[in-house]
Amino acid sequence: MTATGFPALRPNGYRDAWCGQVLDDRVGSPVRVAGWVHRRRDHGGLVFVDLRDRTGLVQLVFDPETAKAVFQLGHELRAEDVVSAAGEVVRRSPETVNPELPTGEFEVRVAEATLLADADTPPFEIESFSGEVGEEARLRHRYLDLRRERMRRALELRHGVVRAMRQFFDQEGFVEVETPMLSRSTPEGARDFLVPWRREPGSFFALPQSPQLFKQLLMIAGFERYYQVVRCFRDEDQRADRQLDFTQLDLEMSFVEVEDVIDVNERMLAHVFEQVGGPRIELPIPRLPYAEALERYGTDRPDLRFDLELADVTDELRETEFKVFRATVDGGGIVKALNAGPRDIPRSALDGLIARAQELGAKGLVWAFREGDGWRSPTAKFLSAAELSALNRRLDAVDGDLLLLVADRPPIANAVLAQLRVELAERFELIGDAERFVWIVDWPMFDWNDEESRWDPLHHPFTAPQRELDPEQPGEAVAAAYDMVWNGQEMGGGSIRIADRELQQRVFETIGIGAEEAEERFGFLLEALRYGAPPHGGIAYGLDRIVQRLVGADSIRDVIAFPKTASGADPLTGAPAPVDEAQLRELGIQLRRRG
Ligand code: AMO
Ligand code: AMP
Repeated sequence: MTATGFPALRPNGYRDAWCGQVLDDRVGSPVRVAGWVHRRRDHGGLVFVDLRDRTGLVQLVFDPETAKAVFQLGHELRAEDVVSAAGEVVRRSPETVNPELPTGEFEVRVAEATLLADADTPPFEIESFSGEVGEEARLRHRYLDLRRERMRRALELRHGVVRAMRQFFDQEGFVEVETPMLSRSTPEGARDFLVPWRREPGSFFALPQSPQLFKQLLMIAGFERYYQVVRCFRDEDQRADRQLDFTQLDLEMSFVEVEDVIDVNERMLAHVFEQVGGPRIELPIPRLPYAEALERYGTDRPDLRFDLELADVTDELRETEFKVFRATVDGGGIVKALNAGPRDIPRSALDGLIARAQELGAKGLVWAFREGDGWRSPTAKFLSAAELSALNRRLDAVDGDLLLLVADRPPIANAVLAQLRVELAERFELIGDAERFVWIVDWPMFDWNDEESRWDPLHHPFTAPQRELDPEQPGEAVAAAYDMVWNGQEMGGGSIRIADRELQQRVFETIGIGAEEAEERFGFLLEALRYGAPPHGGIAYGLDRIVQRLVGADSIRDVIAFPKTASGADPLTGAPAPVDEAQLRELGIQLRRRG
């Protein structure tokens, strides 16, 4: 390895040195470099070219005095042409040194050069990254976009993260095992991607939403410690941190309790971050029970870099005459409130908050400023002096504090204020610099699905309860599950699994999967559980999300080489695309109109 971390090159007809390695030790020697024309400038009869390869830039000088034919080539070069050039390395005169470049004190006096490939004018500049280039254009010409230093660094960091993960797991006795891409549905809560099978028209493989069941089978198979960097597929709405296909770091362990899984994972994260220059993680990482997270932050992925905690003020308002609150409370809803601190904001901004709350699903939003023992607020007149002072007390409000209240069913009141909490912290610049990691623990096993009138698993149906499951009280059951949250973003989630066939069947029943359906969909798992299943548990992380956070990108698309747009399309290849009638016929598929 050389000083810059790149292996020495085997000299060939194209080059004998990396661009980034044209340094002090080569001054006075001949060198041959190859790469892309990053920038070209004509200056007083000389042509200067910044040549770029993966290691960096070096300046080439084409001088008509030294070599006429070569000068002509230099003159004709255009951005992104591919060139091999040879000449002597010289030290630049002091006034021409470029302190921005590691090779900025040197240049290559070109004696000989070959144009290896010429380039059309790129649809956007490679040289300077500007947010003005639309994402569609960037993705359509992703191979050009990836030439940008920022993108190259992101993918190199991603590589470093995966390498550090593999290194860690190797030391800890984990084996990486590949699991199938063509398989059966695994319920992770999204729609499946289906792959039709030519030999059996009407039969489909499902692409894995995760390797969940296979990793459990590997535990039953005795592997004890498994991990995999694996592609997963989920047909769900795209967001900044979601892709149709994305990568998980997936792992599973046998004979473990929650503490064991958390311990390995904390050490893994600390190791990886240390290796790639990420934030230092203080161990142990704090834990927050799910119920407390919801109570204090309104969400199961709280951003702990700022306070602005929520408070449930339902009790203070049980007897209120204000019909908006009273109706909600009488109907089983809650009133949740946020003390946003001393904020001097105009009426228009308050109207903006109301509109935002409504956009987020609230029926309305009450705002108030504490003033003396009461409130300055259009709502103040509907509340008694005792209520106002009780609310002020409950919210620790001092004079001038802005208070925001939402009355609704708990999931809505929480979700709206949780989002407003984040937006207010951004607006008022309350977000601290320290990175905040937290394990969310003690998840409920099930969540009541009002629309479908049934219990849904909060994690997935293979998650074990912490204690005996009472079939009469599914809402009370607490799961041995944990999520890793970093600065308010869910990075990963996992659990101890059910290793007992009967319990697994009981959980299926609770979520409305009868014995027959369970046998049909998960018979292979239920059967495997008959043959000596060790206690086991694990977790999976969104690798894209971890890298996104590490590079500080806005979207996971910026850390994926060839991602899809927000609408799920790939502008580069044009996928998804119609297929030939003949292909469909072979698959026994006839298209029908939607509707
Ligand atoms: P879960 O469904 O929580 O758990 O997924 C684990 C992690 O994967 C990431 N993730 C995604 N990243 C990008 N795009 C998506 N569409 C997407 N969906 C999920 C998230 C998430 O935390 N089998 C279980 C894990 C287990 O129990 O061990 C599972 O897949 O960062
Ligand atoms: P209304 O009686 O609908 O005009 O509402 C009176 C005030 O209460 C307005 O400021 C509304 O924004 C607010 N409001 C209405 N519904 C809610 C709610 N569910 N939670 C909080 N505030 C509400």
